[in-house]
Amino acid sequence: MQRRVLEAEMEVANVEAATAPPDATATERNLAAWDALYAQDPRWSRYPPEELSGFIAQTFPDAGRGTTPRALEIGCGPGANLWFLAREGFSIAGIDGSAVAIARARQRLAAEGLGGAADLRIGNFACLPWPAAHFDVVVDIQSISHNTTPVIEAVFAEIHRVLKPGGWFFGRMFGDRTTGILSGERIDARTTRAVRFGPLTGCGIVHGFSRIELEGLLSRFTSVRFDYVHRRIGESCDIDEWIVQARKP
Ligand SMILES: C[S@@+](CC[C@H](N)C(=O)[O-])C[C@H]1O[C@@H](n2cnc3c(N)ncnc32)[C@H](O)[C@@H]1O
Repeated sequence: MQRRVLEAEMEVANVEAATAPPDATATERNLAAWDALYAQDPRWSRYPPEELSGFIAQTFPDAGRGTTPRALEIGCGPGANLWFLAREGFSIAGIDGSAVAIARARQRLAAEGLGGAADLRIGNFACLPWPAAHFDVVVDIQSISHNTTPVIEAVFAEIHRVLKPGGWFFGRMFGDRTTGILSGERIDARTTRAVRFGPLTGCGIVHGFSRIELEGLLSRFTSVRFDYVHRRIGESCDIDEWIVQARKP
């Protein structure tokens, strides 16, 4: 699967380059750009979105009270969501393509006494370095959205693989009606890079999800729930997001 992903991406030319070598694939260049962004030490949210805290409270009411469910965040960045999950009593694992982000996540967890058992990896989440049926929940907060269609198809297969039967996926992804999301250089039918306007300007690769596409990606899951959140910023900037939860049978 990963080989197919990389071959597909080798055909993508002229992607945003930061510090990646010239022969890097679209994903590698994109991850290098994220790494360069984090190296500038931007102010990044230190707290999880309320949708995640609500989902965890409802779905894992016993976490930290005699049970220690295993959680994985894909594209964990500097660790705001892992910090929350560790505090809620989860055993945490995370993967991100940015070494700087993983270092920041490690620092924060250690500073707050939560880093002991954290399993943090640097890498492309199209290929997850954990065994099958390992996690009780896999979380994505706006990270899958920054990838091409082949990577997205690969990561959904990987999420299904690493979840235990009965385990949950929770994701937050950009919808295709977000202002400007498809205004950049087209990579595939639903993915662009270097969008020209809107809230995702400067965010590298972005993918605008439709509900039908997500239904296909989640076809092997059950208990699928879609919430659709629309926010208007100012007069003309829309942010549309899919809040998705689904269970592995
Ligand atoms: C918008 S940030 C979100 C970070 C974090 N989930 C949060 O809520 O703060 C997107 C993150 O996904 C990571 N990312 C995107 N595509 C990735 C991939 N294919 N493999 C690993 N990490 C990826 C980026 O490095 C970046 O840290």
